[in-house]
Amino acid sequence: MVRPIVAPSILASDFANLECGCHKVINAGADWLHIDVMDGHFVPNITLGQPIVASLRKAVPRVDDTSSSKPKAFFDCHMMVESPEKWVADFAKCGADQFTFHYEATKDPLALVKLIKSHNIRAACAIKPGTPVDVLFELGPHLDMALVMTVEPGFGGQKFMIDMMPKVEALRNKFPQLDIQVDGGLGKDTIPHAAKAGANVIVAGTSVFTAENPTEVISFLKSEVAE
Ligand code: DX5
Ligand code: ZN
Repeated sequence: MVRPIVAPSILASDFANLECGCHKVINAGADWLHIDVMDGHFVPNITLGQPIVASLRKAVPRVDDTSSSKPKAFFDCHMMVESPEKWVADFAKCGADQFTFHYEATKDPLALVKLIKSHNIRAACAIKPGTPVDVLFELGPHLDMALVMTVEPGFGGQKFMIDMMPKVEALRNKFPQLDIQVDGGLGKDTIPHAAKAGANVIVAGTSVFTAENPTEVISFLKSEVAE
């Protein structure tokens, strides 16, 4: 059985108080931090790059770092960039625990998976709403995680696309043990659809960062997946 994982997207946090925002969601029960990297080419928006991830890594140590008493987290880097292969070494070095590239952004996904794993971090592949799920069937056995986008990548706060759920179902049927992530528009109203389809890694930006009680939202998202 795959385990429920909630990954708040820091895109919805106040970038001037990033450390504080990250500690807040970790203390509220977040399993991972979802870090949206956008280059203004693959998507029509620019967010953050490796200097910020490196600084954040000092504020939020790796899960296995026993030398620090700070809140720790797994860094899930969602790379919405062209030529993702160019950035694997830098991101592995600056603190990524997982590198998720877009299928649409690379010519040789399997070579990229191998490159990512050679840096001893987890490899994941994302598909945009317009990309058929079949492209992941051959790659699936080599992946640590598949990401089915439930919005067009580029911006937080968009509406969840329920019509992506058959893709999640198809992946779950083929790969019972694979981590399957959904990203975009996830919150209390939409989580039942994603959980029923078989997603176990839930990205949630707006719904967690704007919540009065993030602990309650995170535990609700987790409990829906666990059922
Ligand atoms: C969109 C990003 C998402 C986004 C999710 O391109 O990949 O991670 O921040 O934000 P919400 O949860 O607000 O839809
Ligand atoms: Zn994302």
